[in-house]
Amino acid sequence: MSDRSDAPTSVIRLADYRPPAWAVEDVVLEFDLGIDHTEVTSRLTLVRQADEPIRLNGEGIELLELTLDGRPLGDGEYILANGVLEVAVDADRCTLGARVAVRPAENTAFEGLYLSGSRDRGFLLTQCEAEGFRHITYFPDRPDVLSKYTVTLRADRQRFPVLLAGGNPDGTGDLADGRHWARFVDPHPKPSYLFALVAGRLERISHDYTTADGRAVALHIWAEADVIDRCDYAMDSLIRSMQWDERTYGRNYDLDVFHVVATHDFNMGAMENKGLNIFNAKYLLADPDSSTDDEYRHVEAVVAHEYFHNWSGNRVTCRDWFQLSLKEGLTVFREQSFSADMNSVSLKRIEDVALLRRAQFPEDAGPLSHPVRPSQYSEINNFYTATVYEKGSELVRMLAGHLGRDGFRKGMDLYFDRHDGDAATIEDFLKSLGDANGTDLSAYLAWYGQAGTPRLTAEARYDATQSRYRLTLRQRTPASAGQTVKHALPIPVRLSLFDASGKALPLRLEGEATAGATERTIVLDGAERSIVFEDIASAPVPSLLRGFSAPVILEFDYAPEELGVLLRHDPDGFNRWEAGQQLAGLAYDDCRDGKVDGAAIGAWTRALAQLFGDPSVEDALLAELLTPPGEIELVERQPERDPDRIRASRQAMLRALASRIGVPALRARYEALRAATSAALDATSQAQRQLKRRVLDLLSLVDEAHARELARAQYDEAPGMTDRLAALATLATVDPDAATPAFAHFRHRYEGNALALDKWFAVQAQLPGETALGRIQSLERDDAFTLKNPNRVQSLLGSFARANPSGFHRADGAAYRWLADRLVAIDALNPQVAARVATAFNGWKRLEPVRRESAHAVVAELASRKDLSRDLTDILARVAL
Ligand code: PHE
Ligand code: ZN
Repeated sequence: MSDRSDAPTSVIRLADYRPPAWAVEDVVLEFDLGIDHTEVTSRLTLVRQADEPIRLNGEGIELLELTLDGRPLGDGEYILANGVLEVAVDADRCTLGARVAVRPAENTAFEGLYLSGSRDRGFLLTQCEAEGFRHITYFPDRPDVLSKYTVTLRADRQRFPVLLAGGNPDGTGDLADGRHWARFVDPHPKPSYLFALVAGRLERISHDYTTADGRAVALHIWAEADVIDRCDYAMDSLIRSMQWDERTYGRNYDLDVFHVVATHDFNMGAMENKGLNIFNAKYLLADPDSSTDDEYRHVEAVVAHEYFHNWSGNRVTCRDWFQLSLKEGLTVFREQSFSADMNSVSLKRIEDVALLRRAQFPEDAGPLSHPVRPSQYSEINNFYTATVYEKGSELVRMLAGHLGRDGFRKGMDLYFDRHDGDAATIEDFLKSLGDANGTDLSAYLAWYGQAGTPRLTAEARYDATQSRYRLTLRQRTPASAGQTVKHALPIPVRLSLFDASGKALPLRLEGEATAGATERTIVLDGAERSIVFEDIASAPVPSLLRGFSAPVILEFDYAPEELGVLLRHDPDGFNRWEAGQQLAGLAYDDCRDGKVDGAAIGAWTRALAQLFGDPSVEDALLAELLTPPGEIELVERQPERDPDRIRASRQAMLRALASRIGVPALRARYEALRAATSAALDATSQAQRQLKRRVLDLLSLVDEAHARELARAQYDEAPGMTDRLAALATLATVDPDAATPAFAHFRHRYEGNALALDKWFAVQAQLPGETALGRIQSLERDDAFTLKNPNRVQSLLGSFARANPSGFHRADGAAYRWLADRLVAIDALNPQVAARVATAFNGWKRLEPVRRESAHAVVAELASRKDLSRDLTDILARVAL
């Protein structure tokens, strides 16, 4: 847990990095586990690297005994202050022993050793990234100290029948008084943040796996008895991930066992501890009755993500936490590629870009904006952000695109081989990729150090007499917190040109002898660059930034008809969708302030109505095309936000679309999809469910009474969670009163199913408008609500504050004041969770004046408090600036 902020908050700077003064060759840990009281004995073999005392981190733990080379140290022989234990030693090599006591059941911050679930039935587990190990014992708790771990667990056999730690099993046995022990040895040196243990009553499912290089690995997924039958999809995903990493990157698993454990009490999504991944149950459990299609995909992706970390993160780790994206951006990229291979390349790209725009662009446009590799932090927990993860992945994607498939593989091979067992840096990564390809990628380093989303503007001039088309590209990155001067970045722009009939033109650049492919990548590596295409017979329509080839905001003055051409003809699913999004953005501008009028709204509805009737358009893509940018993304298009008006305009634009398609067509499509309803999980069935949902939502805007009946029936007939939840959401939006019995039914049906109840809270938290806050306040009084569980907090407070703009940003500021109160209460329990919810205030400065004033008052008030955690204080201080 973090200090309260009256302790001086120190800023850690990348520029101050110094290698560790002492290495830890090996670590022997012994745990005497108990729920209230656990004793940890450690023996560290330390080897001097510099002329300095030994310094170990330790927080919230009680030191019982300290020995140096077996000799007990007295009070005067060490200094313990501000979370650092200092021992001055003459020798260059020594053994430091410590015995400490920790209190798992009192640990509500879920960092270090804690209890998941109830005292009498729950289990013990650890979370160490980023700086949790110091809550377990004294240690140089930094990622560049890599050691071999031998871990022995001892506990009561009845209460803790299962004992797990990372590494290979190395014996078990009985002890006196009904206790037992188990030992684990991890042959791979690792940093302390990858240490983990689990102890308690857990069930398992298992699978025998043989790696491509012939190692027999026992795969075990562990969960509490009531949910163990929901782990099969995770096992299936794990096996596919292992095979994919062997095939795609030639990387094999490297221990004899691999454990995965599910917990309901977890601050994040999941954790890649060596040999013992620990998952938030939300990303591990899946069954048709309680999981949606989206959740199945999330399970697949997160299982893959944590598994891929075994190489990108564990075998090659980070030198310091500034390099976090070295493992996270890279692993997200690997995970995204895997998911694309398992499902659909273009749908995956649409999903990822939509997420980037919804989560990362706003982050990067507000006071919390920071580079993918920050240069300073005061609380590292606050840097597990969309920027480090999603933008970080986009940077790897640019590099991969630059090198091409084989070049990137060669580069990754060199990176893994050269840095195996190292704590590496972003520079090391770029160097390996470059060296393997005989090229210099250091220009891309600028992307890692510069915050803010670059604006890429393109300007076109067509010269009919010369049949030439000139495209001028310019870039500009707006100033961000602490970074006023911005530099030009290398921006790869993949592009094609289409003629008015939608045919892609062969491209010949000025000075080239013959025309080549219909797609080219132009790299803009300065402030401006012009390129000239020859032999262009008529003014073309450019398809720019194909596949979203760089994480920028593209500004090109498209006429609506031009986007219509791309929307109808671009063979690339992603760019087709993108043209639709651009057109929808223009259409939205036509629907502001109560009018629905203009060329763009006409072009958008016309094009979509046509695609709606076109049987060659696949269901999944159609569903995406029918979804314009969300309220949060549209907010970004306006200088001053009024969430109510944004919502109203977006609804008006959807209503225009629904009437253009027409009630008969919508009804007919819905009935066809309804007839095909099943619980099957194949891509076709998933696509049908998704489209059905979009169609019903559109229908509800123009044929309310009928849509209400359909939603009610869909809720009753739903064979699985996707249809059930969609029906509930639609029903509640159309007619909240009519939805009441359905919500009551759902609540009762899923009593005891935590993940399903989370969705019940989340759907209600997202219902728009004035009445939202009152609803939230009564949901808080539900027996199932608690501030102690991070998933529950996210599902009610997080959904409300982040995914319900019109509800949260009430003009009277009541929701801001309410959230501030809750933040203080959550912070006392779990600072990481409080800090994350508080990021909902990131955009207050760009609200319209009335809301801005009330948000500011609340943020300033909170920021001035002295009794909050370092995590929350850090967010508030930056947001309030
Ligand atoms: N490293 C984890 C992941 O991305 C995330 C995490 C960070 C989990 C910190 C717990 C604590 O895979
Ligand atoms: Zn990760």
